[in-house]
Amino acid sequence: MSHSEASSRAEAFEHWIRTSFVQMNTELEDLYFARNNRGEVTGCGDTIKAALRDEGHTFVAALLAEGNTGDGFESGFGVLGSVGMYLGALRRHELTNPLREERSPFPEASSLALHVGASLGMAPRFSTAHLATYNRARAGVRKSFTSLRDEFLFIDENTRGILSLQRAADALTSIVHLGVSSPVADVMFDTAKQALRDVIRFNDRLMGQLDVERFFYSVRPYYKPYRVGRQEYRGANAGDFSGINEIDLLLGLCRANDPYYAQLLVDKMLFMLPSDQARLRDCMTRTSLLDELLELLDAHHDSDWFQQNARAYLEVCDLFGQSAAQHHNGLVRRFIEAPAANLKDQDLQGITASGPPLPVLLRALEILRDLRQAADRRDIVTRHDDLARLRSAVRPIASRP
Ligand code: HEM
Repeated sequence: MSHSEASSRAEAFEHWIRTSFVQMNTELEDLYFARNNRGEVTGCGDTIKAALRDEGHTFVAALLAEGNTGDGFESGFGVLGSVGMYLGALRRHELTNPLREERSPFPEASSLALHVGASLGMAPRFSTAHLATYNRARAGVRKSFTSLRDEFLFIDENTRGILSLQRAADALTSIVHLGVSSPVADVMFDTAKQALRDVIRFNDRLMGQLDVERFFYSVRPYYKPYRVGRQEYRGANAGDFSGINEIDLLLGLCRANDPYYAQLLVDKMLFMLPSDQARLRDCMTRTSLLDELLELLDAHHDSDWFQQNARAYLEVCDLFGQSAAQHHNGLVRRFIEAPAANLKDQDLQGITASGPPLPVLLRALEILRDLRQAADRRDIVTRHDDLARLRSAVRPIASRP
């Protein structure tokens, strides 16, 4: 088997994912959305569902028989995305459901996903990078489950948000190397601030333009957990990239030795690209900018460099806290919590990407928000008091006469 034949099978699968697969999912979504109960998926569109399952199976079987995990990282990652999106759609259309099964009813797709996932060092399912930062557009069209406007809006704004958070993380990383007392840190603090202002702007846009019902009923369900082989894997979410945690750790708002936060890092490791996994591991060994500043505070708080850099650091924290509050109090409340409030218990099962019941997930997300805002909470360890100490050492900017 030559490399080009191997990659042509992967390419045929991806072409199908980018064309017929999208059409079938979109037709099914329109059928569900027209029903009295939009959450009811069974008992309609059975011919389309069977075609989706069987057509996809042909590509999967050919790739599995070939036993090739791809022609380098990109092609393996591409196959993982295709088979993962196929399984994600089967889950969405209730052709599989982890609650009623002990193992995936799709053994070939499972084997293919496990083989490629293990060879790449990633979870055997599609991940955020497949639909966001590594979603390669062809003549302007990116991979997606459907061609619904709201799905494109969601993945595009997510991707812009992720790219901006990565930019902020890159800027903060360069300050680690310069040292927080360096006069040169100013440009990097500025870059981080600008990037976080962009995150806030994209979140605002998503908030204003995304249709609540379409998102809830026709987009979000593709992100449910599903089984690969025997094990259930949680869904992808926009947080599965290292940049956000690099910011947490470098600013010092979250700590890698906090049991709650460390667990979260471990859980998300395999949902990230190997390059992101390496960045995150590296970041876990660094001293945070906050700890560096506090160390210098007593001896140097009067110096110009301390005043300038501590002020810039605090401004970055404020913007980061605002973006975290916006995610939770805005996006999560409007697009998940509010529509979920109208559902019956049974329909609530499996609506979150990670799987825990909604109230449990919301509490966990609240903790993250509060850590990032350095909120004044005494039941968890936040950096509230440390930030207050730093703030009180920074002089107000003198107003011009
Ligand atoms: C309609 C828009 C959005 C909604 C409803 C939403 C909702 C959620 C939910 C419910 C989770 C928890 C994961 C789970 O279900 O188990 C989550 C995680 C996360 N989301 Fe979003 N999200 C949205 C957009 C975004 C955007 C644009 C970003 C920025 C790039 C983002 C960043 C994150 C991060 C970083 C996490 C991981 C947890 C954390 O570290 O905070 N989300 N999101």
